[in-house]
Amino acid sequence: MLPTTALLLGLTGTTIGFHGCQLIADEVSSATDVYYPGSSSYIADNEHYATSSSQVSRCSVEPGSAEDVGITLGILGKTKTPFGIKGGGHATNPGFSSTTGVQIAMTRFNEVTYDPATQTAVIGAGNIWDDVYEILDAQGVNVVGGRVTGIGVAGFTLGGGYSWLSNQYGLALDNVVAYELVVPNGTAVTVTEGSDPDLFFSLKGGGNNYGIVTRFTLKTHPQGAVWGGLASYNASYISAFTAASVKFCSEVTDPKAGMIIVYGYTSGQVILSTQMFYDGPDPPDGIFDDFLAIPAFAQDVTTRSFSELINSTVPTINASTGYRTVYNHIPTLEYSASNIEAVIDEVNFWGPVLSTHGPNVVAYSMEPFLPNLLTHAPAGSSAYPSSRDHVAFPTNVNLLWLSESEDDTFHDAARRTAERLGAEGESIYPNYALYGTPVVDMFGEEGVKRMEATRERVDPHGVMMLTGGFKV
Ligand SMILES: Cc1cc2nc3c(=O)[nH]c(=O)nc-3n(C[C@H](O)[C@H](O)[C@H](O)COP(=O)(O)OP(=O)(O)OC[C@H]3O[C@@H](n4cnc5c(N)ncnc54)[C@H](O)[C@@H]3O)c2cc1C
Ligand SMILES: *[C@@H]1O[C@H](CO)[C@@H](O)[C@H](O)[C@H]1NC(C)=O
Ligand SMILES: *[C@@H]1O[C@H](CO)[C@@H](O)[C@H](O)[C@H]1NC(C)=O
Ligand SMILES: *[C@@H]1O[C@H](CO)[C@@H](O)[C@H](O)[C@H]1NC(C)=O
Ligand SMILES: *[C@@H]1O[C@H](CO)[C@@H](O)[C@H](O)[C@H]1NC(C)=O
Repeated sequence: MLPTTALLLGLTGTTIGFHGCQLIADEVSSATDVYYPGSSSYIADNEHYATSSSQVSRCSVEPGSAEDVGITLGILGKTKTPFGIKGGGHATNPGFSSTTGVQIAMTRFNEVTYDPATQTAVIGAGNIWDDVYEILDAQGVNVVGGRVTGIGVAGFTLGGGYSWLSNQYGLALDNVVAYELVVPNGTAVTVTEGSDPDLFFSLKGGGNNYGIVTRFTLKTHPQGAVWGGLASYNASYISAFTAASVKFCSEVTDPKAGMIIVYGYTSGQVILSTQMFYDGPDPPDGIFDDFLAIPAFAQDVTTRSFSELINSTVPTINASTGYRTVYNHIPTLEYSASNIEAVIDEVNFWGPVLSTHGPNVVAYSMEPFLPNLLTHAPAGSSAYPSSRDHVAFPTNVNLLWLSESEDDTFHDAARRTAERLGAEGESIYPNYALYGTPVVDMFGEEGVKRMEATRERVDPHGVMMLTGGFKV
């Protein structure tokens, strides 16, 4: 006998005879559960960082084993049921990790196991970085992961991964030794450089095109106390702030230093803020002094553990603000005074223009890295970036607004500002790119060819086309 909820869903749904959820519940082991609207697990499974990235699914599945992920994928493929795969739920594009079909939440893959002998850690795909850092910090090591609280290991690592540690060790994807991947035929395979070079390459940027990752084996690095945190300044200090920014970006060569420099606009005024980072308890003189000399209206910069630093970051969106959001990537070759002035011009243009569309925030984050950022892994070792010849900095435009009826306005603004500011022909970062960005702009023609051939081999029936994301 079918539970009443499944019957009701089957009758009220648009797909006559939809019974994917019940089939999954019938087939999986006791390690896995299926949840329906009304349960708190269903709510948590469907929740995303932004309301604009959430949808109402038929049911949610929390798989508890790789075998059950395989069974679930098999049923979804056979019944051609749309689905979403959620790691940390921080995708900013609508529908990339949400669905009106079956929401898969990976939370039960929460393993974090450090192996001192190999200097690697096995990290379950359902973790957020906060939890990973807390466990590894206690063992004096770290991995290359997210810079603020709440980000998922899976989406971040599958799309690229710009970290506080990237100047020292490269992108998150450069630090992957092995993937445990459930391919659409239901088999769990361990993918390494040696086992399947094309698939290993394709997973480094290719997101959810090849199946569902259940575990990542990541390189670990020694980690002690760090210095850094957030500081925000009044618009009246914009000249000093910009001078300090240009100086940091052109002069600092210490790979342990990092910054995110933000020019924003909200409630009729320009806002300036930074995140500073140093991989050590005390930054050498001269690196951050110019920023520290500007009177801040809010500042939380101190020495602490890596895990505490990440936990100290304040999310731009929380359940009570309820903002909708969108990101776009603005590849930038140099943070020169003139390039920063061009960003400020965009802030001063879009800020007032978008103010007529309800409460909103406009933020451009500059992310300076060293010129050797991409030399920590060999050329051709990853789908993203399409070239490792030189670095284009991943400037990020982030727009926040409240009303769903304004989605098009803000999506259009994110597209237009990136067209105006972005350097031509540079590899676009999948984790920041606005939906609709062609994959060839991320992976290049050669990369896309290799990824397509791999996708046809690993997913011949197009099961992964049933889930959102950038498709090769
Ligand atoms: C506040 C904020 C801060 C950020 N900071 C940074 C930063 O410092 N550096 C940086 O590089 N990026 C950053 N990002 C971008 C971030 O890398 C992406 O949003 C990333 O996709 C988040 O991963 P997630 O697991 O949380 O997302 P999700 O929304 O859960 O997933 C993102 C994508 O990955 C797929 N996916 C998830 N799990 C799996 C899996 N197990 N197998 C296969 N596919 C899967 C999903 O289907 C989806 O398409 C930030 C984003 C936000 C919102
Ligand atoms: C910032 O500006 C506000 C008013 O806009 C003022 O009250 C505050 O004192 C200023 N803070 C600093 C550090 O200048
Ligand atoms: C993270 O910060 C919050 C306060 O913002 C605190 O309540 C919590 O205990 C912190 N968690 C850790 C692991 O430090
Ligand atoms: C949500 O964010 C707003 C704005 O940053 C902040 O004022 C508020 O305290 C936050 N609420 C919670 C519950 O964190
Ligand atoms: C499933 O796909 C993987 C990867 O393409 C392959 O190695 C394996 O042989 C396939 N298994 C079956 C049963 O088809």
